[in-house]
Amino acid sequence: MPREKIVHFGFQKIPEKEKTARVGRHFDIVARRYDVMNTLLSFGIHYAWKRKAVGLLELKVGDVVIDCCGGTGDLSILASRRVGPGGSVILYDINRMMIEAGRRKSSNAVARKEIAYVQGDAERISFKSGIFDAAMVGFGVRNLTHMEKGLQEIHRVVKRGGRFVCLEFSRPIHPLFRLLYDFYSFYIMPSAGFLLTGSRQAYTYLPESIRMFPSPRKLAALLGKTGFREVTYQTLSNGIAVVHRGIKV
Ligand SMILES: C[S@@+](CC[C@H](N)C(=O)[O-])C[C@H]1O[C@@H](n2cnc3c(N)ncnc32)[C@H](O)[C@@H]1O
Repeated sequence: MPREKIVHFGFQKIPEKEKTARVGRHFDIVARRYDVMNTLLSFGIHYAWKRKAVGLLELKVGDVVIDCCGGTGDLSILASRRVGPGGSVILYDINRMMIEAGRRKSSNAVARKEIAYVQGDAERISFKSGIFDAAMVGFGVRNLTHMEKGLQEIHRVVKRGGRFVCLEFSRPIHPLFRLLYDFYSFYIMPSAGFLLTGSRQAYTYLPESIRMFPSPRKLAALLGKTGFREVTYQTLSNGIAVVHRGIKV
């Protein structure tokens, strides 16, 4: 009998076929408190990272954009302001509770009329090839069972000449800061997560999955292998986050 394929869920090794459901349960637990936890745990800096990422997409009025793994929609809201009523932003996410939490939030009051919400799997995007002027994914690809498949799908749906940005967590560059950050993320984050969401495990998965994620250099190489060109990246806040950019040629 062929051996079952094993993948990582944070540091845990689990059967490949269980990962999507585990990730789904994780976001079901955190959905209601996702935005407040992001703001608390990053001291609000995630908004600056998101503005930077959307800025790098160089959106124009009328552009059609997909926000893959869009969750509660911060990137979609920023993009919708740039593309205007003549453009469109599709927030694409597998988790209904994350989508609903985003639709309800007050910062979304104006933008939600302009954003189309589609529930679906980033590893099998339910859109035709080559239809988006730009694609973005924020803190999403880390959660996919097959990251390469998700990146190939994003590449497929973008037009030739279209831009792609990928915002993800990484690890601080400075060794002392890295030590402090490790303490913060393995001890403070899970406790804060427990207080606000009732689940310590949910915020243990976050730092573990960040440690398992490829380095910025490896991710840049993977984007190149996927078919993106002119791939560049910028580290943000001493490397806590990193934003990659590529063009489909
Ligand atoms: C950490 S949240 C990021 C949300 C948002 N992009 C942001 O920047 O705040 C990750 C999102 O990826 C979504 N996700 C995980 N696996 C997915 C998949 N296979 N297809 C589509 N979305 C997925 C989750 O439901 C969740 O909303």
